[in-house]
Amino acid sequence: MTDCRQYSEACARNRGPILEVLRNAFSATTTVLEVGAGTGEHAVFFAGVLPHLLWQPTDVAAHLPGIAAWRDAVALPNLRAPLALDVDAGDWPVAEVDGLFTANTLHIMSWRSVRHFFGGVGRVLAPGGVLAVYGPFSDDGRHAAASNAHFDAFLRARDPSSGVRDWQAVDQLAAAQGLSLTGDHAMPANNRMLIWRHNL
Ligand SMILES: C[S@@+](CC[C@H](N)C(=O)[O-])C[C@H]1O[C@@H](n2cnc3c(N)ncnc32)[C@H](O)[C@@H]1O
Repeated sequence: MTDCRQYSEACARNRGPILEVLRNAFSATTTVLEVGAGTGEHAVFFAGVLPHLLWQPTDVAAHLPGIAAWRDAVALPNLRAPLALDVDAGDWPVAEVDGLFTANTLHIMSWRSVRHFFGGVGRVLAPGGVLAVYGPFSDDGRHAAASNAHFDAFLRARDPSSGVRDWQAVDQLAAAQGLSLTGDHAMPANNRMLIWRHNL
């Protein structure tokens, strides 16, 4: 059988620093929905080192075989089979979770999709639940580094609807869904990890 696992060097580099934030952010969490799981390497790693979590990876359909191949290779009891989830679809394939994680997605999606993402978060994240978002963010239009500005220009040239997001604009969408920003962690390579809690 062909091995359709995909590998991401960025995942291998950032998973350790992300883990240090997730350990605390998801310490009281039971079920995590991951949106835009990509290769599935984050899902395999975090499910392995955080066994108290039931980890549900999702992505658009094209990514599911690769994620499933990683899952088959590790056979972890707390890692669920990947599900198709396009943030633009009205129906998400989970009813309620108390944790939600996404990495390197909000700058890839259109702003319309980012709005849909937060609409979905508002629907499925339980009261008291935690949202953790990793990626590059700008601050009121100012980039954290020249490399982020170049990356933003590259993204927008490729797809004008994508681009590095201002954390303030993203936080406004979160607040409209009843989420409060509780953490903002500087991460390697000029990325950030933003943590919100769904208000009771
Ligand atoms: C740069 S990759 C990041 C993958 C992985 N999270 C990581 O950090 O390596 C962006 C991911 O966002 C996903 N994505 C883009 N648009 C999406 C949408 N409308 N709904 C769900 N996922 C989407 C892509 O399929 C892709 O897996």
